[in-house]
Amino acid sequence: MTFSQDLSIDTRYSLQAPCGLPSPLRSSLSSHTRSSSTPPSTRLSTAQHSEDHDEYREPTSLDDIEEPDTLMSCFGTLSISSLPPISPKGVNASGPIITRFPKPPPPRPSSILGTREEQRKIYLGPKLSDRATGGPDAGPLIDRFSCLFQDQYDCVSNPKGIVSLGVAENFLMQEECLELISTALKDNFTPLDLSYGDSLWGSRRINRALAGLYNDYFDPAEEVKPEQIITGVGCSAVLDQLFYTLMDEGEGILLAAPYYTGFDRDLIGRGRVRLIPVHVPIGEAAFGPESLKMFEEKLEEVEKEGIRIRAVIVCNPQNPLGRTYPRSTLLAYAKFCEEKDLHLVSDEIYALSIYDNEGKFNYISYKQSEADRLKAHLFELNSDFPQADPFTSMLSLNVEKELGIEFDKARLHVVYGMSKDFCSNGLRVGSLISQHNPLLLRAMANTSMLMKISSPADVIWSTLLLDSKRLKSFINTNKLKLTESHKFTRNWFIERGIEVSNSNAGNFIWVNLGKKLKFENSIIEKKIFQKLLDGGVYIAPGSAYHYHIAGWFRVTFTVPRGNLIVGLGRIERLLNLRPLSELKFE
Ligand SMILES: Cc1ncc(COP(=O)(O)O)c(C=O)c1O
Repeated sequence: MTFSQDLSIDTRYSLQAPCGLPSPLRSSLSSHTRSSSTPPSTRLSTAQHSEDHDEYREPTSLDDIEEPDTLMSCFGTLSISSLPPISPKGVNASGPIITRFPKPPPPRPSSILGTREEQRKIYLGPKLSDRATGGPDAGPLIDRFSCLFQDQYDCVSNPKGIVSLGVAENFLMQEECLELISTALKDNFTPLDLSYGDSLWGSRRINRALAGLYNDYFDPAEEVKPEQIITGVGCSAVLDQLFYTLMDEGEGILLAAPYYTGFDRDLIGRGRVRLIPVHVPIGEAAFGPESLKMFEEKLEEVEKEGIRIRAVIVCNPQNPLGRTYPRSTLLAYAKFCEEKDLHLVSDEIYALSIYDNEGKFNYISYKQSEADRLKAHLFELNSDFPQADPFTSMLSLNVEKELGIEFDKARLHVVYGMSKDFCSNGLRVGSLISQHNPLLLRAMANTSMLMKISSPADVIWSTLLLDSKRLKSFINTNKLKLTESHKFTRNWFIERGIEVSNSNAGNFIWVNLGKKLKFENSIIEKKIFQKLLDGGVYIAPGSAYHYHIAGWFRVTFTVPRGNLIVGLGRIERLLNLRPLSELKFE
């Protein structure tokens, strides 16, 4: 069978609710009746609000507000501190807790967009919505990113530009991607692709292709069916729509810190929910099941302050730490969410970007100098990670069987997309798999046209996913390139005496400049970040990921090798980091 035959679409069913979902919402509701034992709060967000809940509370101070003077602090402004205020009343978790579609919050005096009076200085036209202008403002962040993107390094056209080692983009498979794009569009783009298509949930083609991917590579406990998937323009859009549907304004989500900065933008921007970092232990313990104890403590703490926790996010493989979670920890997450009746969202966008990190570094040729002994010691500290866990998808857990407890599968939602494992951030394709919550998918379909992926992107990904041989080769080639590039970059830092966290997944490593440069506070971290940016290289500081320990930075290693070498060279020069082998010992 050729690709085009394989991708052909049967249009007989267009305009019907795809894949067997009941058509009217009411029947969807009645067809999915939860058992009476099922606790109520995995409910979706509600469109009604009762008058007696219609109040705000004072802001909580669960996170620090940074001054918006750097890119890093701009990330900081998108924190819990910029959420709608809640009232000082009702600090009792069991009382009336959360406003349901409350009156629009008054513009916060400390908002970057300013008070109404301040806003009037720059805008005299008819009033804009409080919803959009009264909340967190990413203006300085947007300005900084505009600068960064406009002044990107290019060895020929802009050699003085900024080398970006701070964005999770994988450039290692560009040739393969360009080849795929041209063949896919040539062979498989059909006239139907010029229409609105055949499904609100994506397209019947991509849902079928994605179901195949999940069944072949995510080892699901139950077969994934096309109708359990909804697609959107990248995981960011999917996360926005998902949380908009799951939760109401002001409700809270727990997640382990450090965490991916984009969650702030994606979840708070429109959904106005609260992201509450849980500062799990550092090092290996961050990935252990015991870390869930800290979730429990944090939940109790914030519920006392009147914040209702409704969901937990687990990012596996973890961004920014670049590591997979062991199965036992994922089960502990599931257990915690069941006990506390929370939604569990697993962001698995790096699922197939797992590389080998077994510490077989070819070039160690020891001469017993002091420098070599120190270097060998650092290798011991940093290089061996044979105990890295393989990737385990939340979809693969059979919680009831593995833990012997009840588990309501309607609470589990997995997010996955094309940006990272398929090296195509720009194509904007993401998806949600929720195997036991048809109501969620139905509710999301109400607004799914806002995030419907374009048909060229749909054709491109479907072409690859439906060609099992090409798919396997793509994934394996990417893995080899990740392994090589990771090793190169990790070694570069180790050679300069810099601690690198153990990692086995993703596009970045997590390095401790603080220890090497002997600083422990976030102001210096900010200064280092700014110095590097001014000197033409961008790496992402730990505080942007809500990390409470200063000195850590996330460094992307999946950029073209030439850019990587120039970027690392600038870091070396600006921070005076010399290879240990060049150090002179008395
Ligand atoms: C953990 C995580 N989730 C979601 C996203 C957003 O991905 P997308 O490009 O699909 O919007 C990213 C991008 O960096 C990410 O790292």
